[in-house]
Amino acid sequence: MAKVIDGKAIADAMMNELAVRIESLKSDHRAPALAVVLVGSDAASEIYVRNKIRRCEQLGVRSIEHRLPETTQQSDLLGIITSLNNDEQIDGILVQMPLPTHIDEKRVLNAIRPDKDVDGFHPVNVGRLSLGEADAIAPCTPQGCVTLAKSVLGPDLSGKRVAIVGRSNIVGKPAAALFLAENCTVQMLHSKTESPQQLAAQADILVVAAGRAHLVDESWVKPGAVVIDVGINRVQQPTGSKLLGDVDFDSVTQVAAAVTPVPGGVGPMTIAYLLHNTFQCYLKSVG
Ligand code: GUN
Repeated sequence: MAKVIDGKAIADAMMNELAVRIESLKSDHRAPALAVVLVGSDAASEIYVRNKIRRCEQLGVRSIEHRLPETTQQSDLLGIITSLNNDEQIDGILVQMPLPTHIDEKRVLNAIRPDKDVDGFHPVNVGRLSLGEADAIAPCTPQGCVTLAKSVLGPDLSGKRVAIVGRSNIVGKPAAALFLAENCTVQMLHSKTESPQQLAAQADILVVAAGRAHLVDESWVKPGAVVIDVGINRVQQPTGSKLLGDVDFDSVTQVAAAVTPVPGGVGPMTIAYLLHNTFQCYLKSVG
């Protein structure tokens, strides 16, 4: 049976370390500050934003919440982003996705100052990451995937074969860039890939971010591989609604060396890296 990777424990350890560093700077500097913008009342977004804000408070990061109605005009949202961009007391800006359909997400993401873009979604940061620049702000979830893989395999991932299922801008593509920066051999698999199981079953590290509940079973997994499940799918079952990963945990655990659970795997790491990115922006700001 595979080891279950405890993402919550690893994230908690990271956040405890950050809290100590933030506390030690308190006497000489203002606290780090993160602005969180939520437009509308998407139920999942509400939960994510609440968790992010709660964690900020626990770590001594000031959170500034902007809750805007569903009907907010794009120009008003852009105005708020401009004022947050110009506010020297704000280190990071996060606009929770998805936005209502009358708002152009690309326009909004492009408006965030790249040095406050704690999600790492701005084209400047995407470009820096793809150039392999060490100080690029990288997206949170993919950074969590690399750290979880290292928690099993050790800090040197050089030469490992990585397969990534899913090619999204927020997980698949940046995960590829980060594993490449670790000198891994990276293969992207997606909905048009022929025989994805066969290709996935060659990987030492399998990252699944496809957004399809239980897509991946043991037939996709090389014996002894590390499997990172990024999926969060809410499905209705006779017993009520349940969160399922993109990985069929009970099947994969028969062959893998280690698997992340859902929940308690990648999710807590995303928040830990949001706070990590906010702290990095703060350090650049307060010098
Ligand atoms: N919606 C779902 N995941 C994310 C994320 O990582 N950042 C933002 N801003 N919105 C999201």
